[in-house]
Amino acid sequence: MEISYAPMEGITTPLFRTLHRKFFTGVDKYYTPFISTGDSVRMNNREKEDADPSFNPGIDLVPQIISNSASQSVVYITHLGERYGHKEVNINLGCPSGTVVSKGKGSGMLRDKDVFEEYLSSLKTGLSEKEKAGEKIPQVSLKTRIGFYSEDEFREVARIIEAYRPFKVIVHPRSRKSMYQGTPDMDAFSYMYDAFRSAGIGVVYNGDIKTPEDCERLIERFPELSGVMIGRGLLRDPALARRIKGGPKAEPEEILTFMETVLDSYTEKIGTEKFVLAKMKDLWAFMFSAFAGNEKGYRDMCKARTVEEYRVCTRQFVRNSEYIL
Ligand SMILES: Cc1cc2nc3c(=O)[nH]c(=O)nc-3n(C[C@H](O)[C@H](O)[C@H](O)COP(=O)(O)O)c2cc1C
Repeated sequence: MEISYAPMEGITTPLFRTLHRKFFTGVDKYYTPFISTGDSVRMNNREKEDADPSFNPGIDLVPQIISNSASQSVVYITHLGERYGHKEVNINLGCPSGTVVSKGKGSGMLRDKDVFEEYLSSLKTGLSEKEKAGEKIPQVSLKTRIGFYSEDEFREVARIIEAYRPFKVIVHPRSRKSMYQGTPDMDAFSYMYDAFRSAGIGVVYNGDIKTPEDCERLIERFPELSGVMIGRGLLRDPALARRIKGGPKAEPEEILTFMETVLDSYTEKIGTEKFVLAKMKDLWAFMFSAFAGNEKGYRDMCKARTVEEYRVCTRQFVRNSEYIL
């Protein structure tokens, strides 16, 4: 069973992915944050670096697009295959952010089921025309929520996706309305799992996996899963995938070395201390709960104004907290 690192915009950068891969084994695939499609293929620097394997050495990388246009999606999927040699491209049907949804992208695609159906049907036609013309097209996987307004839309969403027959679907069992709140709807997931499996579509579960035990329970209930995708759980415990595969927990000093290497690498790449610190503080916001009993130490880290001050505060925080993983 494959373990993939979830895309997280602003967090899972090429630099972060590459260092994670270097320090911790266990993750089989890394998905990039979304690349937004436009009239012609004009990717910004962030998007190019995300998609370009030379910026992601040693990594099995899957680029993700977000779109409200089937024709644009066809152009981007083809480009990502031709220009960078990708074999899989993922489509984001889950992003809940207001600006994305208002354009009918991400989970906004799930709002009007006719529009969603039309999008997938035109995508299928567009891609198969390219294939008939002899072009090599990457396989398409979808990353979806189970509904827009409520969790009850899962049957309709499943029906539309089944008709498209992607080779793989990553399901985050929440509606857009639930954002990242509440517990994932495992009954809805169970329905989609059965529906997709019986249509020969691979199913990947995503949502709230925090421990190896969470993963074991999932596999026990859904033994034919193609994989699991983990986001915040891997930020909190960077060795989570290694542990799921039977390897050791991360030692606090290992985490410290990893985070100091990330700090040094961002300092070298970005330069401006303010931006480096912002990146590190975003990461620690997910990681700090692996350490208990030292709220003051964490507050000191948040207040640090220079990279050197931050480095000292981080060491103090890790060494003077209780490590609870
Ligand atoms: C800060 C942040 C940025 C995210 N960016 C993306 C993104 O670019 N594309 C995407 O498909 N999902 C994105 N997500 C959603 C995650 O990939 C994942 O589906 C979500 O966090 C649930 O999984 P988890 O409980 O394992 O974290 C983002 C989530 C967070 C917290």
